[in-house]
Amino acid sequence: MAFNEEQFKAIKAEFVIDGERLQEIAASFRQDLQLGLRDVTLSSMRMLKSYVGLPSGKETGEYLALDFGGTNVRVSLIRLDGDGKFEILKRVGRPLIVPGQYDYICKDATAEQMFDFIAGLIDEAIDGDRNTKYYLGHTFSFPSTQTNLNNARLIIWTKEFATQGVEGEVANDLLSAALKRRGADNVEPVAVLNDTVAVLLSAAYKTPDTFIGSIYATGHNTCYLEPSIHDPDCFGSGGMILNLECGNFMKLMPNRFDKEYDERSEKPGEQRFEKMVSGRYMGELLGMAIAELLGEKGKQYNLSSIDMSMMILDESPNLSRATDILMAKVGHELALEDVKKVRELAAAIVIRSARLAAASFVAIVWQRAGSGKIVRQHVAVDGSVYEKMPLAKENIVKAMSELLGEDSSQVDTILDNGGSGLGAAIAAAMAVQA
Ligand code: GLC
Repeated sequence: MAFNEEQFKAIKAEFVIDGERLQEIAASFRQDLQLGLRDVTLSSMRMLKSYVGLPSGKETGEYLALDFGGTNVRVSLIRLDGDGKFEILKRVGRPLIVPGQYDYICKDATAEQMFDFIAGLIDEAIDGDRNTKYYLGHTFSFPSTQTNLNNARLIIWTKEFATQGVEGEVANDLLSAALKRRGADNVEPVAVLNDTVAVLLSAAYKTPDTFIGSIYATGHNTCYLEPSIHDPDCFGSGGMILNLECGNFMKLMPNRFDKEYDERSEKPGEQRFEKMVSGRYMGELLGMAIAELLGEKGKQYNLSSIDMSMMILDESPNLSRATDILMAKVGHELALEDVKKVRELAAAIVIRSARLAAASFVAIVWQRAGSGKIVRQHVAVDGSVYEKMPLAKENIVKAMSELLGEDSSQVDTILDNGGSGLGAAIAAAMAVQA
């Protein structure tokens, strides 16, 4: 059965954001930011305090960095040498879920099981050493209320995590208890930070003039250095970094696929922006569109963003790779014309995602500039979508230049690969060396 041309065009149009709409979204994001700075309850974003500003670049010493925020948990031992230099001395990582074997992120898993697993990984990184004192920076990439640099209480799980007994708890208390149970209390957590904050610290350590940090991966979120916030408990300089939790930005128009997906997600009504932007959801949106075109609305195919990227990258004349992926996931041998349409839809979903992310970056640049000039600066981004998804990066650049006009040469995006780990080590150093 071939796709209906009209239906295809209508669905594709739902994912297009034109120039005017892009301006409106950026303006609305900026307004939400301004509201939140006045009174956080007025913003749809959480705008969480991190108790850290920019590093000096002179931070030194050996630190453990725990990166916990997606399905893979990583622990690294990192030596900071100052002057933006560092070395990763050891690195271990393991998924929190191996289908058929274990799953620490589902509803049935408990906080103890999850943190015991993480403590085990930390122990592996230090080869079971019980004599050396290790300070640990913890990149905990979920919305958390902080009262200082080492105390972050999880507000709500995002990214479809559902483990019991973690929401409402202090992440590093759970971690310290697990380290203690294991007898590894020579490891002391001293800092906890969002992955966006880690990316900003990591990029700023190496590249001056970086004030915005973002993750564009399974999840999507951005932080920035807010110069007007001063707090005696804040480490570093230049004000305080705010973790926007902009995945929860609500003041934009979701289409009917976004709405429908949201309704059946783990947390309906939450993270509406993230559900339109991040890698966790793009494949789901594409799957819903394909189901309609195939006349099997409501059917789920489990298409991932990796499938999407492989289909977009397939430029062979007969699109054999894309056809095989669709056969395996959707269960239909699609005609070449229909596979082409699926690729077009996939591209439209990625481009929309990139344009939305770009609108949020520009909104923050505008906000930081106020009525003054936009200074030369970098936006640090890490994450698989930014790095690997075809069309993502180029469309961020394009949309930012559409929005910034003649100021666009002042702002660029830079990849900060692995920033989540390095940033955690930098935060630990800032806490210990202050
Ligand atoms: C989700 C989390 C946020 C994190 C982002 C990227 O949006 O709520 O804290 O920064 O994913 O991992």
